[in-house]
Amino acid sequence: MPVARHDLEALDRADALRDFRSQFELPPGVIYLDGNSLGALSRRSRERVAAVVEGDWGRGLIRSWDDAGWIEMPRRTGDKIARLIGAGQGEVVATDSTSVNLFKVLSVALRVDPKRRVILSERSNFPTDLHVAQGLATQLTPPIELMLVEGTEDAIEAALIERGSEIGVVHLTHVHYCTARMYDMARVTRAAHKAGAVVVWDLSHSAGVVALDVAGCEVDFAVGCGYKHLNGGPGAPAYLYVARRWQERFSQPISGWMGDAQPFAFRASYEPAPGISRYLSGTPPVLAMAALEASVEVILEAPMDAIRRKSVALCDLFIELMDRRCGGMGLELVTARESAWRGSHVSYRHAESEAAMRALIAQGVIGDCRPPDLMRFGFAPLYLRYVDVWDAVERIAALSLRG
Ligand SMILES: Cc1ncc(COP(=O)(O)O)c(C=O)c1O
Repeated sequence: MPVARHDLEALDRADALRDFRSQFELPPGVIYLDGNSLGALSRRSRERVAAVVEGDWGRGLIRSWDDAGWIEMPRRTGDKIARLIGAGQGEVVATDSTSVNLFKVLSVALRVDPKRRVILSERSNFPTDLHVAQGLATQLTPPIELMLVEGTEDAIEAALIERGSEIGVVHLTHVHYCTARMYDMARVTRAAHKAGAVVVWDLSHSAGVVALDVAGCEVDFAVGCGYKHLNGGPGAPAYLYVARRWQERFSQPISGWMGDAQPFAFRASYEPAPGISRYLSGTPPVLAMAALEASVEVILEAPMDAIRRKSVALCDLFIELMDRRCGGMGLELVTARESAWRGSHVSYRHAESEAAMRALIAQGVIGDCRPPDLMRFGFAPLYLRYVDVWDAVERIAALSLRG
C-alpha cells in the first residue's frame, strides 16, 4: 500500500476508471463521501433531463408517451439495472419507491407457501424494511410474525433450523446501511431454500458498487434504491426484481392500471400483465426516470469487476490512513477490515459524531451520521480519486476530537 500522497497521484493516473470522474458534476473544493446515500449528478443525467423537458415534453407533449418511448421507461431502465445485479432481461422494473416495492414483493413472497406465517429478518435492518413488513403483518389473516435475529449468516441459519417449517420469507438487506456488513448472498439464499423459504434481498447499498449475481444465487425477489450508488437523483425511482419462475404465479397487491395487461383498453376489471410488467402500478415519473436511466448507462460503461476492485481499494486505503493518522481520537471502526464482508462505505463510532461531521462538512468533506454515534463515509469508485481519500483523512486528523 502506498505511503505518501504522490504515490496516490500515481495510482490515480494509472486508474482504469479515471476518466469517469469528468462525467460527474462535483462542486469544486468538495470531497463527496456520501454517494451511498445520494449519488452525485452525472452530466448525462443533467443533459438527458434537459432534453426530455425541452424536447419530449416541451415540443412532443403527450405524443411522447409513444414517440419518445416514455411508456417503455420502467421496463427499459429495469433491463439496464438488471445487468448491474446479474438478473435476466425482463426480470427487473424501475418503479415506485423501495418501500412500496417491498410491500409488493413481500406480499407475493408470502403467498408462495401460505401455511408459513413467519418473515425472518435482521434486528437492525433498515427501518423501512422492518416497517413495511410490520405494516403488511397488520393487513393479513392469519397474522404474520416478524422474527428478528442478529445480522449474521450463522444467526439466520440457526433460525432457519429452529423455525424452518414456519418461515416463508427471509428478508435481508445485502449491505448494512450503518456498518456496511455484507451478507454472503449465495449461502443465505441456499439456506433459506433448503428450509423451504424464499428470499427477498434489499440491494440498496450494493447495486452499482458490488458485483451481484441474483440469477446465479437463485434469488427469488429483490428491491433497491435508485438514488444511492445508481446516482439517479433525489427520490429517484426504485426497482424490483422478480425471478422469472415467480412472475406469473401471483399478482401483486397494488394492482394499478399500469400493471394491467391492456392499460389503454380502460377496462373496469384488472387482468395482470404478462411478466414483470404486472409489478407496475401507476404512471411512471418520466423526468426522474430519465435521470436514473442515464445514470445507470454511465455505470454500465465501466466493467463491474473494476468498480468493485477500486471500491475495495478506496475503502482499504481509508481504513489504513485512518489507523495511521487518527489513532487516539476516539474513533472506533465498525466496518469489517476484510473486504469480502463489506460494501462500499466505512463507518466509525465516536461520542461526538454529529459535531465532528458538522465540522468536517464545513471543511468540504461530506459524509453523514447515523444515530446514535456513527460517522459514515461512502466511496464511489467512478468519481473519487485516491488523493481524495488522503485529503479527507488529513482533514479528519485535523479535527480536534477527544479520544
Ligand atoms: C436499505 C435501505 N432500504 C430502503 C431505503 C429507503 O427506501 P425508500 O426509497 O422507500 O425511502 C433505504 C434508505 O436509505 C435503505 O438504506
